[in-house]
Amino acid sequence: MNILIFNGSPRKRGNTDLLLTKIEEGIQRCGHKAEHINLADLAIHPCTGCGHCETEGQCVFNDDMTPLYAKINAANRIVIGSPIYFYGVTAQTKIFIDRCQVLWSKKYLLGEIKPERDYLRGYMVSVAATDGGKIFEGARLTVRYAYDAMDFTYSGELLVQGVDVKGAVAGKKDKMEEALQLGLEICQ
Ligand SMILES: Cc1cc2nc3c(=O)[nH]c(=O)nc-3n(C[C@H](O)[C@H](O)[C@H](O)COP(=O)(O)O)c2cc1C
Repeated sequence: MNILIFNGSPRKRGNTDLLLTKIEEGIQRCGHKAEHINLADLAIHPCTGCGHCETEGQCVFNDDMTPLYAKINAANRIVIGSPIYFYGVTAQTKIFIDRCQVLWSKKYLLGEIKPERDYLRGYMVSVAATDGGKIFEGARLTVRYAYDAMDFTYSGELLVQGVDVKGAVAGKKDKMEEALQLGLEICQ
């Protein structure tokens, strides 16, 4: 199984990172290995809406996003993690997602048919400082739509509120356990 984990938090060993690492532990327990990609370490140019991918199926930018298209196309499971920044995903996550416009164009404008693969499942992990009832709504819609472009089915989420200080989520034992269980579920 080919599993990708994207961490959109710029904070190393932060709350998103800790949850994703726990998920990875679950994945390893199943005998699988995930590739953990820190989006903050990559140089990805923001989409400029030039329209090139709409006709050519390729992006004009050749940067750290370029190899990710092939990785996404080869993946069976993807996890996208991002803390909430101003009711949405982080800039690092959004730049990555916007560059998935290439995949959207191939699917919806160019009618590219992908080779048959296993049921492809995408998951979302997010954390937020506050307890607002709608805190994850914007990010969830963004991630859902990204999975649609990737041809993945949105299959689950782990959302944790009330964590702000770096690493605070480690104190929420129930959430860390949920992360481990999610890792096990992802392999099924
Ligand atoms: C620029 C910025 C914007 C934020 N916006 C929100 C917000 O709108 N709502 C919220 O509940 N928390 C917000 N937060 C708090 C983070 O979501 C919180 O600290 C989270 O635990 C950080 O996760 P991390 O450790 O994985 O980076 C914001 C933090 C930053 C730095």
